[in-house]
Amino acid sequence: MQIHHHFSLRSYNSFGIDVEARSFADFHTTEDLTELVTEQLHPGKDQLLILGGGSNMLFTKNFDGWVLHNRIKGIELLREDENHFYVKAGAGENWHGFVQYCIAHNYAGAENLSLIPGKVGASPIQNIGAYGVEIRDIFQELEAFDLFEKRGRTFQLADCDFGYRDSVFKKSAKSRYVILNVTYRLNKKPDFHTGYGAIVQELERMCVQELSIRAVSEAVMHIRSSKLPDPKQTGNAGSFFKNPVISTSQYTALSNQYPGISGYAAGEGFTKLAAGWLIEQCGWKGYRKGDAGCYPEQALVLVNYGKASGKEILDLSRSIIDSVQEKFGIQLEREVNIV
Ligand code: FAD
Ligand code: EPU
Repeated sequence: MQIHHHFSLRSYNSFGIDVEARSFADFHTTEDLTELVTEQLHPGKDQLLILGGGSNMLFTKNFDGWVLHNRIKGIELLREDENHFYVKAGAGENWHGFVQYCIAHNYAGAENLSLIPGKVGASPIQNIGAYGVEIRDIFQELEAFDLFEKRGRTFQLADCDFGYRDSVFKKSAKSRYVILNVTYRLNKKPDFHTGYGAIVQELERMCVQELSIRAVSEAVMHIRSSKLPDPKQTGNAGSFFKNPVISTSQYTALSNQYPGISGYAAGEGFTKLAAGWLIEQCGWKGYRKGDAGCYPEQALVLVNYGKASGKEILDLSRSIIDSVQEKFGIQLEREVNIV
């Protein structure tokens, strides 16, 4: 196992922020990880960051500790029953690669989550979601390494406490577990989710005659590519903020004042607002200062046009939070992990 010191993380985060990790190592197996956390790191003394694809991170300074980069690979069909396939994927597998594998094998359920950057291991951390589907809809179980107890643990669906861009791994279990693999429960018979966003229009534009999981995946990919910046060209981490969930009575009051406001039902008595709309109304869409900016096609996405520092992006996010609070009385919460 190779260990690097003063290692640049620039190509390990989708914002393309140039910071250094004091120490850095890849782990390809659970044994590699165990060796690193028992023999190299000093528990309780060294800071530790588990890194997947770095597509939901904003580094604001050098990391004075260990960055361990997950490279555990492998995709395996564990079993099947009348309705489902149970497929286990190593945490270091590329997420979109896994979705494509499912489509190629006719395992249905992950197609709406096409083209989300990052790795399998991070998919349960914020319960990734897009176009009406979230990880919790296809989650069976995961295996993790407990850094406190130095042993393995299995998490079932009920243990994960999944919510909108949320899970136990962002709350009480934060920083305690390294996810090693995830088993997904995929459908034999597709249950198409085409009601969200512009999927139906895109399928029509594609002249799709017979609906298939491949067609839905392609429609989602087209829509995403048309509005989200490609991190290979413009640094970003997708939505920088969560869409705020407010009471429906507060929403009704706001929509009387701002008839154009976008809101969607989010459980009884709650409405989810489109944060992109709030940010756009505050005049930020297309804003740029130096190399830090608010993406012209999607105001919820902050971008690094080249050499912005993490601090510049963070400062921009603070100004956006303040102005949305001032205009609408709504507190935006960051989705991206700030390090
Ligand atoms: P990283 O950024 O490396 O890590 C994210 C967090 O998870 C960190 O706290 C890290 O420590 C922790 N972590 C990572 N791997 C492990 C592990 N194995 N064990 C324990 N902790 C771990 N997200 C959505 O939900 N929906 C979208 O539609 C979406 N679209 C995006 C579009 C773009 C262009 C970009 C750049 C990002 C988008 N994202 C979206 C955000 C991002 O893709 C997801 O959050 C993704 O799951 C992050 O995966 P990663 O491997 O890059 O995680
Ligand atoms: N909108 C604007 N102006 C903007 C952007 C959006 O007015 O600049 C309004 C429009 O009314 C639009 C609505 O917001 O109809 C929703 O926009 P969009 O469909 O692009 O989705 P989003 O709510 O901005 C969420 C997720 C995305 C996910 C898409 C599709 C969050 C924080 N973001 O974005 O996830 O891909 O829906 O499901 O929930 C991510 O988490 O990184 C991410 C990209």
